[in-house]
Amino acid sequence: MPQLTINGQEIGFEDGQSILEVALSSELEIPHYCWHPGLSVVASCRICLVEVWAPNPRNDNKLEAIPKLLPACQTPAADGQVVHTDSPKATANQRAVMEYLLINHPVDCPVCDQAGECTLQDYAYRYGRSASRFEETKIKQPKKDLGPDILLYSDRCIMCSRCVRFTREVTGTCELMVEGRGAQESIDVFPGRALDNELSGNVIDLCPVGALLDKDFLFQQRVWYLTRTPSIDGLTSGGDNISVEHNHGIVYRIKPRTNLEVNTWWISDEIRWGWKFIHDESRRRMPRVRGLDPHDPQQADLAWKSATDAALSGMQGTHIAALISPMLGCEDAWHLARLVKSIDPDAVLALGPVPIDGEDKTFPGGYTLRAEKAPNARGVRRVLESFGDEILDATAFEELLASGGGPASVLLTGNYPSAWVTESLEGALGDRFVVLLDTMPNRLEERADVFLPAATWMEKSGTFENVDGRLQAFERAIEPVDYCKSEAQIALDLLAGLDGSKPEWFNAVMTRQQMAIEPALKMFLDEVHLPEVTAPVESDMEMIEL
Ligand code: FES
Repeated sequence: MPQLTINGQEIGFEDGQSILEVALSSELEIPHYCWHPGLSVVASCRICLVEVWAPNPRNDNKLEAIPKLLPACQTPAADGQVVHTDSPKATANQRAVMEYLLINHPVDCPVCDQAGECTLQDYAYRYGRSASRFEETKIKQPKKDLGPDILLYSDRCIMCSRCVRFTREVTGTCELMVEGRGAQESIDVFPGRALDNELSGNVIDLCPVGALLDKDFLFQQRVWYLTRTPSIDGLTSGGDNISVEHNHGIVYRIKPRTNLEVNTWWISDEIRWGWKFIHDESRRRMPRVRGLDPHDPQQADLAWKSATDAALSGMQGTHIAALISPMLGCEDAWHLARLVKSIDPDAVLALGPVPIDGEDKTFPGGYTLRAEKAPNARGVRRVLESFGDEILDATAFEELLASGGGPASVLLTGNYPSAWVTESLEGALGDRFVVLLDTMPNRLEERADVFLPAATWMEKSGTFENVDGRLQAFERAIEPVDYCKSEAQIALDLLAGLDGSKPEWFNAVMTRQQMAIEPALKMFLDEVHLPEVTAPVESDMEMIEL
């Protein structure tokens, strides 16, 4: 394997890697703005210039300094190279570039959303000058409304052009351009167009400074108050890796997590902004039993107790059919199937309706927007099939109910972000006993004999199987709102109610281990991808020689 040396450290590399890629792969920092692994290389910001010495084949391969500094992002790594990122020449360039970038920058960090995660801020501290020598008047640039979701604060822009290249190379929609020249150049949309494509929000993440801002997150939180929980997209079948960023039980934003095997660096706008229903005022938060006054001021625990008792007494001794939603985790599906099979070994299991919106759309950059708007249809089916019966789809389930015979009680699960119950499903239920586990209002709420409020995927842990059959675990980001519980926990409570034992607490890891005892579910032991958290943990301890 060829090797080069960066700041005295020998590092092996693959052919085709740039000096910057080699350094980053060894967790050595070379400052960079315009380079991004998902975009073409333009080498325009010049902060990554390094001093390179290379063997000269015309002089017995003796090491010779290359007279000019070279951009680490664009210079291929070569065997025997010696690179300095901290030599006087390299650091003088870093200081000069930082000074140049800050000349017209408003330095309004106290009111900037990017503060705390801004590379301009970080590099100014690490590589810049402590004081500005610029005494002239700064050029002021306007704020621009680029589209329905994104604002541009041109003053803060450092013209790295990542956003422009994104719309050209990844989405192919080309809404953005560089307008003007020199100190007057700025980013803008082409006349008459808006930055409005299905992946537009990624330019916010790409912007290394606080120029491109998320209207939805504007002035909502200082980023250092946010806790990041690794999670998986719970709205579509792609299984995109995401971080849920939250504070005190409130989710403020969703960011992509890099996974080169799934979503690379991007997520779609529907994943980024489609989660708002979890804090919607209309979210259902309390259990309800038909015939009981919903405004009865009893304690929540009592409401849960009376609701689970009512659910059990209605279902016990009957033939049951259960509709398990593709919005649930595999663990939810497994506990629910266990529950109905414990009550009725002949219980009918069905997969809930799988919403499809158009067709998959693949962008020039390779990202695919999924038409299937449910995260776990394959995982739920896999789990239900392990119980040995034929699994009905939603249409066959409805036909079975509409035929008039069959089950006397029905367990339904929803957890969709919007209304999902059709008039025909409601009609097919007839006068059967209905237990509904759901999150949002729907036409069955009043009809259900027992309604149990469920938790969304951000409020529980579990596993989704994406469209490519990849099993990925996600962690609970926030506590369930008010009195909601995960479907798995509800099933465990009901199972305990069957034999009068104490309810177990739901634990996704232990559930996967229990599931994997069944040979058909063995993959839950060793094929589940757990979230990788790659953020470096820096010690805040200072070691002092005594
Ligand atoms: Fe190399 Fe911008 S990162 S020139």
